Amino acid sequence: MAPHTEQLTRPTVRLRGLTRSFEGRTVLDGIDLDLPAGQFTALLGHSGSGKSTLLRAVAGIDHGVAGSGTLTAPERVSVVFQDSRLLPWRRVLPNVLLGLDGADAEERGRAALFEVGLGGRERAWPSELSGGEAQRAALARSLVREPELLLADEPFGALDALTRIKMHALLRQLWERHRPSVLLVTHDVDEAIVLADRVLVLERGRIGLDLVVEREGSHSHGEYRARLLQALGVTEDVS
Ligand SMILES: Nc1ncnc2c1ncn2[C@@H]1O[C@H](COP(=O)(O)OP(=O)(O)OP(=O)(O)O)[C@@H](O)[C@H]1O
Ligand SMILES: [Mg+2]
Repeated sequence: MAPHTEQLTRPTVRLRGLTRSFEGRTVLDGIDLDLPAGQFTALLGHSGSGKSTLLRAVAGIDHGVAGSGTLTAPERVSVVFQDSRLLPWRRVLPNVLLGLDGADAEERGRAALFEVGLGGRERAWPSELSGGEAQRAALARSLVREPELLLADEPFGALDALTRIKMHALLRQLWERHRPSVLLVTHDVDEAIVLADRVLVLERGRIGLDLVVEREGSHSHGEYRARLLQALGVTEDVS
């Protein structure tokens, strides 16, 4: 295989046989999953289906999965949650720079804030930010680490519909510019189709559907939507 082809197909994340149980109840049941470098993947599933559990396992922050299956993940991983998790006693820029060192850290932090549209807000307190702005700051904090893998657990779940649309455009733009692999957990079928190139549906502890979304393809948004809702067992009754 030519070196450049290898580069393109090399998975950033490789999961084999990942199983996770809580008190004897199996939530993830032998998951196999490859996330290719630079791919934007969304993960859908009913509440309680194990999306956050899977994300935590991939992030390496669930020590309870030790010994079950194998996980290969990159070194630089960033995680964004539904709430920004900014430290309230630090201003925005120090929050973005948290744990980062290097002579150019501050410059990179300022650049990341500018990229998410928060240029000029470096000295604001988290309590002075709107929900959307706080999530932008959280994205800046992730980006400044130049992650190979960005994991996001319903990052827009608490935002109003208009702000969410703007955040979709921003996230897609940032992804196009920096090209990390993305695994976005969402319960929003439309969000998944709009943002991702591949959508997974988690059901009964397994990947029940693995759907490629072709941006320039012949399938409409409505067709993808119907397919995903069917996999989720949701029927849209319009009568
Ligand atoms: N630390 C834990 N201890 C016990 N049970 C847990 C723990 N973490 C998760 N679970 C259980 O595992 C199942 C999957 O939880 P998880 O949070 O992964 O679901 P989810 O798909 O992210 O749901 P939601 O869409 O509501 O966020 C749930 O039944 C939950 O109660
Ligand atoms: Mg969850």
